[in-house]
Amino acid sequence: MEREEILHWLKERDEARLEDLWARADAVRAAHVGPEVHFRGLIEISNHCIRQCQYCGISAGAVGIRRYRMSEAEILACAEEAKAYGYGTVVLQGGEDPGLTEAFITELVVRIKERTGLAVTLSLGEREEHELRAWKAAGADRYLLRFESSDAELYRRIHPSRPGALPDRIALLKRLGDLGYEVGSGIMVGIPGQTWDILARDLEVFRELDLDMIGIGPFIPSERTPLGGALAEELRLQAGDQQVPNDELTTLKTVALARLICPEANLPSTTALATIDPEQGRELGLCRGANIVMPNMTPPEYRILYEIYPGKACIQETAGMCRACLSGRIHRIGRIPGKGTGSRLAALKKA
Ligand code: 5AD
Ligand code: FES
Repeated sequence: MEREEILHWLKERDEARLEDLWARADAVRAAHVGPEVHFRGLIEISNHCIRQCQYCGISAGAVGIRRYRMSEAEILACAEEAKAYGYGTVVLQGGEDPGLTEAFITELVVRIKERTGLAVTLSLGEREEHELRAWKAAGADRYLLRFESSDAELYRRIHPSRPGALPDRIALLKRLGDLGYEVGSGIMVGIPGQTWDILARDLEVFRELDLDMIGIGPFIPSERTPLGGALAEELRLQAGDQQVPNDELTTLKTVALARLICPEANLPSTTALATIDPEQGRELGLCRGANIVMPNMTPPEYRILYEIYPGKACIQETAGMCRACLSGRIHRIGRIPGKGTGSRLAALKKA
């Protein structure tokens, strides 16, 4: 799909014409990844973070929140629960937390593999090469790191780099692929300063990176962050009438286009989408291109502390409630829970 066509669809507002986009995305989803919806059990293992992402409610600058780091025993118990529920994957996600040491994660991955055999996805920020290597060798299968924006200037504004480090997540994503990880990335839709051209380019970058998984959710402003205040005003002003809205329709158009552009990728129907539309968000994502859900498995006492944006869906629920909720929603739209790990690379090898 050419840039012009991407832009045309992103800006389309006519509901009748959009039916065509939804139908095409759903047909491509059915043809390439089938009716299965794979469950990835999400364990939010630490809310410590040394970075200053200007949109994120648990960044280093977010004051007044209690910080936690789960113990190995607590994380293993969640992984075993995921296994018991029949999920194929656990996702270990956290802030960029040096307290999650190379040795701690290595040991953890080995133990999870021994006890559950599940696929293990890591989502721990921009880590050092030797750490990423050690974790891969320990048995980690996948790594998630959203590039957030393909526009270098916007990325720089919303994402101050570490002193001395180059702000290049895209290079890191390529590195992760070379190390043998299945690689997931993604973006937020409607970040202040994001123009239609930037969003269209993001979609092209998904294709160029040949991503295995692509997470797309709406930007949700958090008052404890600069992008919930003055910085947002400034960036929106700069984008002017080219500013992308952070609404549900634009998010769904982006998901549908990602499916058309990357037919075999794994696409989650995200928690952020469920947050802005608690009634129908998950289902609409799944019916317009998505084939993955990420039920939250974080123990309740920690879950409420992992508030990367306000009103985050599932913050009051338990792992069992999220499982029942998602199973019901999937069943009601006529889809089936996936079996196995739902790996894109394995699926490609089979084909
Ligand atoms: N609104 C929506 N999504 C957010 N994320 C972080 N902060 C926000 C926010 N305010 C997303 C980022 C990150 C992922 C873990 O959560 O894209 O990569
Ligand atoms: Fe958690 Fe619906 S997925 S309550």
